[in-house]
Amino acid sequence: MKEQLQEIKSRALANMQAAQDLAALDTVRVSVLGKKGELTAVLKLMGKLSAEERPIMGQMANAVRAELEARLEERKAELEAAALEAKLAAEAVDVTIPGAEITMGYQHPMNKVLQEVKEIFIGMGYTIVDGPEVEEAAYNFTRLNIEEGHPSRDRSDTFYFDDEDQVLLRTQTSPMQIRVMEQQQPPIRILAPGRVFRKDEADATHSPMFHQIEGLVVDEGITMGDLKGALETLIKRLYGEDAVVRFRPHHFPFTEPSCEVDMQCFKCKGKGEIDGQICSTCHGEGWIELLGAGMVHPKVLEGCGIDPEKYSGFAFGIGLERMAMGRLRFNDLRLIFENDIRFLSQF
Ligand code: PHE
Repeated sequence: MKEQLQEIKSRALANMQAAQDLAALDTVRVSVLGKKGELTAVLKLMGKLSAEERPIMGQMANAVRAELEARLEERKAELEAAALEAKLAAEAVDVTIPGAEITMGYQHPMNKVLQEVKEIFIGMGYTIVDGPEVEEAAYNFTRLNIEEGHPSRDRSDTFYFDDEDQVLLRTQTSPMQIRVMEQQQPPIRILAPGRVFRKDEADATHSPMFHQIEGLVVDEGITMGDLKGALETLIKRLYGEDAVVRFRPHHFPFTEPSCEVDMQCFKCKGKGEIDGQICSTCHGEGWIELLGAGMVHPKVLEGCGIDPEKYSGFAFGIGLERMAMGRLRFNDLRLIFENDIRFLSQF
């Protein structure tokens, strides 16, 4: 029995040493010290021993058990330490590897310029207002003094929703003039930016969807001088004091007199050509059209319940894309809508 105990002990110790993980170690524990383990089996045989032998063997068996249990705890600690080591090695972070760059978001160039324009007008006391893109023909045309049969009402220019041509995608932000004036008596000073829609083929300076910024000021004694002052302030703040602008007579049904405002082409500096080639930015014009403007037509004021004998006003409609092209110096309007990150991230 003594030899048996020694044999069990040395085999168990060897097996513990050979165990490479905690599960294997536990298998060894169960096979020796478990209910049906080898040592337990030997202890069960104790009863058959003589009275003299029993305490000696009992002591010995207990010593073996104690030694095995101690070694078991030790080996367990070793394996746990090794497992932790391996886990740390596997999860190790190499702090010398360059970090993955997190790219910051940024404003779309259009929003950037829109924000600049808004701030300039807010500084002059304007309020920003918003209105519908799906508009009634009454607001988009009729109440702006644009009569039935006017070419801009044509189905080849305007997106209509109905057969009677009464509901449409607004072709300009000018209906906001009517929406504000029918709600509010002077003094009025508003800015209404938004999307507009026309059946235009896309090219370097046209798009079927683009943005306008409508401005409207109505009060006593407003003149064309006020209009010029407001627009010159805008353009000089946006493009710098040396920006060259011109006011050119024009016609709009809802303003009288009317004008268009151009900026000298930033690409060819007004020459219309570069190295004998026609300038692609201004199409050889030397000037880039930025906006339409004028004094609000008395009929339009009257139609909104504002007395044209007492009040006068001016309005303007800025093409935001054109303005952004000049401000940010790029020459194809389509770039704005293509959302190519290589273009957008330049600003
Ligand atoms: N709505 C006009 C256009 O789209 C621009 C404009 C606005 C003209 C306000 C005069 C006054 O061309």
